[in-house]
Amino acid sequence: MKRLTIFLIVIFYLIVYSFGEKKQIKTRSHTSQLIVSGKEWHDTSGKRINAHGGGILFYKGVYYWYGEYKADSTYLNSKVTQWECYRTEARGISCYSSYNLVDWKFEGVVLESESKNEKSELSCSNVLERPKVIYNEKTKKIVMWLHVDSHDYTKASAGVAICDSPVGQFKYLGSIRPNGQMSRDMTIFKDDNGKAYQICSSENNSALYINELSDDYLKPSGRFTRNFINQFREAPAVFKHKGKYYIISSACSGWDPNQAKYAISDSMLGTWTMKGNPCTGKDADKTFLGQSTYVLQINGYKDGYIAMFDKWNKKDLINSRYIWLPVIFKGDSIEIPWIKQWNIKMVLR
Ligand code: DGJ
Repeated sequence: MKRLTIFLIVIFYLIVYSFGEKKQIKTRSHTSQLIVSGKEWHDTSGKRINAHGGGILFYKGVYYWYGEYKADSTYLNSKVTQWECYRTEARGISCYSSYNLVDWKFEGVVLESESKNEKSELSCSNVLERPKVIYNEKTKKIVMWLHVDSHDYTKASAGVAICDSPVGQFKYLGSIRPNGQMSRDMTIFKDDNGKAYQICSSENNSALYINELSDDYLKPSGRFTRNFINQFREAPAVFKHKGKYYIISSACSGWDPNQAKYAISDSMLGTWTMKGNPCTGKDADKTFLGQSTYVLQINGYKDGYIAMFDKWNKKDLINSRYIWLPVIFKGDSIEIPWIKQWNIKMVLR
């Protein structure tokens, strides 16, 4: 009898606790605050958010925003002559957490660069860009992929790091050239069936590779496709809506803005059709002066998507801003309208 009473009490508390959790997440996610693109965005402690070229992981009811943690001073790397190679020291990868996608708490630098060992791939003089993080249900690991490059962008590789927790510290496993090919601007896409893909600018940016990953997400499976050959696309951001796959990308013009384009396909390793510029409104021909980095589907909302862009400030890179805009679906086509300020509730559909 005593055992049964204890059992019932435990069950009662479990039900009350899990109900309370859900309610908290739901109410916190309906914020009335505005997203203001291009304006300084501060974290919950009042400091400027430093998470560039980023992406978002939704894990156990919380959104985690990972990005490039840039250092204060920007300089021109004179060893690179083909383009204006403005650089800042790479300080590693930062992480911010949020329930409502507007208020972001700084969780720290979850993958730190190395200031002493110049030979390390994570040396602060190297390039550590465009981190993307996904969760692997089978191994229970949080997996990060990022663009790892030498000071002059000739290494063109992708690094992998893992962690048991979304807020670090991540263990760096090293870098590779997926399927033996260059990898610069990159993203990761995890499909509903658990398959994941690394998508990167390769062959000196002239082709966009889609590399399927192994079941543990730590290496390429060996299946890959070459896309948009000789079209020089970078800054890929991939998402899925109603069974169709989308890639938004930019042209290659260093830190300077250019026109975005999107492509659509019936499967990740299938044929992609280039559709044109999804942006509309002020500065739409230059991606609102930004460059794509990620498209987030808001958890639980089948049409709730946010397109994330970086508004680079090439001479003061840490002071680059963020542009977040709703994605509007019109049949299979998409539109990303310029809206200076808007409420997340607008895309909760
Ligand atoms: C454009 C890329 O999209 C950025 O991530 C960065 O690598 C710059 N080029 C460097 O110029």
